[in-house]
Amino acid sequence: MNAIGAPVIEAKTVGKTYGVGRAPVRALDGVSFAVPEAAFVSLVGPSGCGKSTLLQIMGGLVPSTEGEVLIDRERVAKPMPGKIAIVFQDATLLPWKTARANVEFPLELQGIGAAERRRRSDDMLNLVGLGDFTERFPHELSGGMKQRVSIARGLAQEPRIILMDEPFGALDEQTRIKMGQELLRIWEATRKTIFLITHSLTEAIYLSDRVLVMSHRPGRIVETLTIDLPRPRTYDMIGGVEFGRARNRIWSLITADEAEGAVEP
Ligand SMILES: Nc1ncnc2c1ncn2[C@@H]1O[C@H](COP(=O)(O)OP(=O)(O)OP(=O)(O)O)[C@@H](O)[C@H]1O
Ligand SMILES: [Mg+2]
Repeated sequence: MNAIGAPVIEAKTVGKTYGVGRAPVRALDGVSFAVPEAAFVSLVGPSGCGKSTLLQIMGGLVPSTEGEVLIDRERVAKPMPGKIAIVFQDATLLPWKTARANVEFPLELQGIGAAERRRRSDDMLNLVGLGDFTERFPHELSGGMKQRVSIARGLAQEPRIILMDEPFGALDEQTRIKMGQELLRIWEATRKTIFLITHSLTEAIYLSDRVLVMSHRPGRIVETLTIDLPRPRTYDMIGGVEFGRARNRIWSLITADEAEGAVEP
């Protein structure tokens, strides 16, 4: 088990309504939770329940309608580069830039000097296993490799927190499991706090210390499961009794909610 520290992220009764005035959509309602320093926390819930909305509020990309998110006790009002990095579902790489240039681009925007940018892009591309592909363009990389560049770009910002929105959603199952294992290795090497949105219950349980389960829209946290499986996690644990119990529990919570949309068991 990894040591779990003080909360680094705190969501306090966060609510979000889109399009106030005309046809409002209530996306989130009374969402409260805390994420301890260096923890790996996942968020699962039916499609359209407000997960991406919550992640965007946590990242300072969209404002909440009610409540607040605190990072290190500071209210999130705008993006916090250097503190929070976001990895999106589609790798969102710039097609005209090499893997290295994609990793360095946000650092350039932050005014970080060329030598330091180079050191970080070398370190992080090596860490994600792309040391031989630094000068390749996105179209020369596989889906999994592009996603690894995207993760390296997040890590190179040396954030304390990485928010990930379905980062492996577009990958086949085998690549997805390998990427999850890779992510655990990186997490163990860097001790970041990771907050991951996923549609895969298996992935959430396999990777996390805690799994937050969100209800159908408007999203609320209906349960927080602590995953007590030992670390390092191994593939055979997926077939174990404890694993199955956690998966059944999450499944029953999500289906009891008469969720629309896809959730993978
Ligand atoms: N910019 C926006 N303007 C208006 N409504 C929005 C906006 N973004 C999201 N919504 C609505 O808010 C609700 C929650 O959307 P959100 O993208 O947060 O769901 P999600 O849980 O991430 O879904 P999925 O699992 O499919 O990615 C949906 O009803 C969606 O239509
Ligand atoms: Mg989403």
